[in-house]
Amino acid sequence: MIIRKNSKELEQMRRSGLLVYQILQELGKMVEEGVTTQELEDAAEKMMKDAGAKPAFKGYYTQAAGSKYPYVLCTSVNEQIVHGMPSARTKLKKGDIVSIDTGVQLNGYFGDSAITVPVGEISDSTKRLLKVTQESLELAIDKARAGNRLFDICGTVEQHVVENGFSVVREMVGHGIGTKLHEEPQVPNYVDKRNENPRLKEGMVLAIEPMVNAGAADMKVLKDKWTAVTKDGSVSAHFEHCVAVTANGPWVLTRP
Ligand code: MF3
Ligand code: CO
Repeated sequence: MIIRKNSKELEQMRRSGLLVYQILQELGKMVEEGVTTQELEDAAEKMMKDAGAKPAFKGYYTQAAGSKYPYVLCTSVNEQIVHGMPSARTKLKKGDIVSIDTGVQLNGYFGDSAITVPVGEISDSTKRLLKVTQESLELAIDKARAGNRLFDICGTVEQHVVENGFSVVREMVGHGIGTKLHEEPQVPNYVDKRNENPRLKEGMVLAIEPMVNAGAADMKVLKDKWTAVTKDGSVSAHFEHCVAVTANGPWVLTRP
């Protein structure tokens, strides 16, 4: 069942969304050569504490990993797609890209967003990967309108990515969000005909999160049971926003 939110609930989700935005902005500014992903983690944890928010990821259990995720951030570098774990040993280098994904819970409502940030000057092909991934998210956000269907969002991401010669990850999906981090429906970045294709209605909130590989779509999970990487070692980008379907069109909760 897809849980729709009334305007009071959306206002709460807006507060969580803006906090996630502010945290990601601050972390984005910290990214430079020599910074470790543990330093990003520590800064994020402090910002959440100061804001009186609970981290959404730390302690989150998934069946696939069979354990609770131990950090407030996912920091996925280069060929890591998602769920990369912060570490004092992971020092960012010039030419890297790092996806920073985080979520918070404020007054019972979740916010979840991700950005991929270049470390210094990056190659033209990786610049294009970031641009196309971000564009695919923006095009999909514009489809989050009452009367459209879920597949309009999924298909829009897929089409833009494929047209530009990149590939979408199939094993990981976006999701509904509200009083739980993951609610129905799943939001794949391609049209998955095995799923239902519900009509979008006012009050639905979706976390849309394209994960785009420069090479082939195939992924594998490392021995730590969390870190998802591309099979062919190509770089991967990830951007995410929470979007509410409203009478006035798409409302991106995770940016001003
Ligand atoms: N943005 C991701 C998601 O919504 C991150 C989840 S990490 C986890 O699925 F640790 F919380 F699983
Ligand atoms: Co998410």
